Amino acid sequence: MIIVRTKEELRHAIREMADDGQSIGLVPTMGYLHEGHASLLTAAREQCEVTVLSIFVNPLQFGANEDLDTYPRDETRDIALAGSCHTDIVFIPSVQEMYSSRPLTSVKVSEITEQLCGASRPGHFDGVGIVIAKLFHLVKPHRAYFGMKDAQQVAVIEQLVHDLDFDVEIVRMPTVREPDGLALSSRNVRLSPEQRHQALVLSKVLKDAARWLKGPEMTVDSLLKAVRTEIGKMKEAEIDYVELMQYPSLQRVPGKQCLQEASGTVILALAVKFGATRLIDNALYTIG
Ligand code: PAJ
Repeated sequence: MIIVRTKEELRHAIREMADDGQSIGLVPTMGYLHEGHASLLTAAREQCEVTVLSIFVNPLQFGANEDLDTYPRDETRDIALAGSCHTDIVFIPSVQEMYSSRPLTSVKVSEITEQLCGASRPGHFDGVGIVIAKLFHLVKPHRAYFGMKDAQQVAVIEQLVHDLDFDVEIVRMPTVREPDGLALSSRNVRLSPEQRHQALVLSKVLKDAARWLKGPEMTVDSLLKAVRTEIGKMKEAEIDYVELMQYPSLQRVPGKQCLQEASGTVILALAVKFGATRLIDNALYTIG
């Protein structure tokens, strides 16, 4: 496994390893890796000849009052996990290396960034867009792996790839969970034992919703109300959003609409703060 820290070293390593047109798989991350990230690396390993992991806490996707400075980091552990997943190249650039001057170019996907995390975190997806566009240009992957834990991010990146004709296949990977249901997240380490216990409501309510959706007369409004009520029973939970939308278009389903009469794929997306820690989770359902 090669560890590179500059764009030049990265380009060189890729040229050396993938010069015969071998397929390249890219897994972009912000580090503090867990089994969710490992599942992406393992899939890349299975499907591509050369695997590239990027670890970069991208300042452009954090708002002024967000946790950029306290985002958890552990490079030594990340490198060990990358090695255990048989990664070929690990790219760990500094902020100065990635953005040697403030970018004047913006990468802005409209419409599907105006709700959910895009609404709660203004500018967040512009930051994701620019760093992903840069990584795609630097690595030129055949496939890039993203977790459905961040389903809106997947929709945004798929749109970006379509609109800008990036020659890369986006591979959607399922959310990896703890045995008790909690979706793995680098931010879980910040939960107190009590908050962690209460956070189980998120995965539980996503499961319950699969049943509720099938109820006769169940409307979007009544489903969202039931979800909010369950989450509200947790003392430390503060809801940021609870939304049901079509996926991947992220268009709202009318509140009065009876779900039995709707069709297609919908997402139930949750963002809830437990103390200072904001968690997101979601599930997709096929209805109709
Ligand atoms: P990060 O939060 O580190 O996540 C990196 C990748 O791992 C994302 O595609 C994310 O969806 C996936 N992931 C996180 N938790 C997961 C889980 N429990 N199961 C499966 N996959 C999971 O997302 C980012 O970084 C950044 O926005 C990035 C895309 C790297 C751009 O900076």
